[in-house]
Amino acid sequence: MTVLIAPSILSADFASLGEETAAVDAAGADWIHVDVMDGHFVPNITIGPSVVKALRPHSKKAFDVHLMISPVDSFVEAFAQAGADHITVHPEAGPHIHRTLQLIRSFGKKAGVVLNPGTPVEALDNLLDLTDLVLIMSVNPGFGGQSFIDSQLRKIEAARKRIDASGRKIELEVDGGINPETAKRTIAAGATVLVAGTAVFKGGPSRYAANITALRG
Ligand code: DX5
Ligand code: ZN
Repeated sequence: MTVLIAPSILSADFASLGEETAAVDAAGADWIHVDVMDGHFVPNITIGPSVVKALRPHSKKAFDVHLMISPVDSFVEAFAQAGADHITVHPEAGPHIHRTLQLIRSFGKKAGVVLNPGTPVEALDNLLDLTDLVLIMSVNPGFGGQSFIDSQLRKIEAARKRIDASGRKIELEVDGGINPETAKRTIAAGATVLVAGTAVFKGGPSRYAANITALRG
């Protein structure tokens, strides 16, 4: 099975986000990964629902919206209405992750659980029946351009086992420090979706298609 590639527009030219989104779509992106940060849950601030709404006409691909905001529940509806297809949340971003996943699904959206590098894989254990997508962070969230943390490969393998044992169709996505070399090891560990910012956007629009192809292994 070919791995799916989800370019993170965090590494795009923010002055041309619509064009950048359309360009990675045309270059073969499978999903568009949108990193939402609040300066509180993570030490950076990015974009909100109004930007997601403005980007929506620029691509028909699934918008994979990664919420790094706390408390998260009060913003789920706004991102759902703005056009998110997947909404992924960190267990640490609210008091009741199970309820947050129910809330995401109540809007007809795919629900994802994100595990930080320091969050144990066991955090998934009572959530898989409400989960469409597991996202393993291979860097600490907040910034693009960081180095892949090798210890997360064992966690990806462990998550793969849990997903297989569940018998459910759940994507296993990995985010942070993905380049053609780390992509290979990540795929071998069982990932089905790779998020990549730096590795997709480097070199400008004429390179996007080749950059995406290089990640598919
Ligand atoms: C980090 C974000 C990532 C990030 C990946 O908090 O969740 O999506 O943009 O960027 P690269 O691929 O540059 O590590
Ligand atoms: Zn992300």
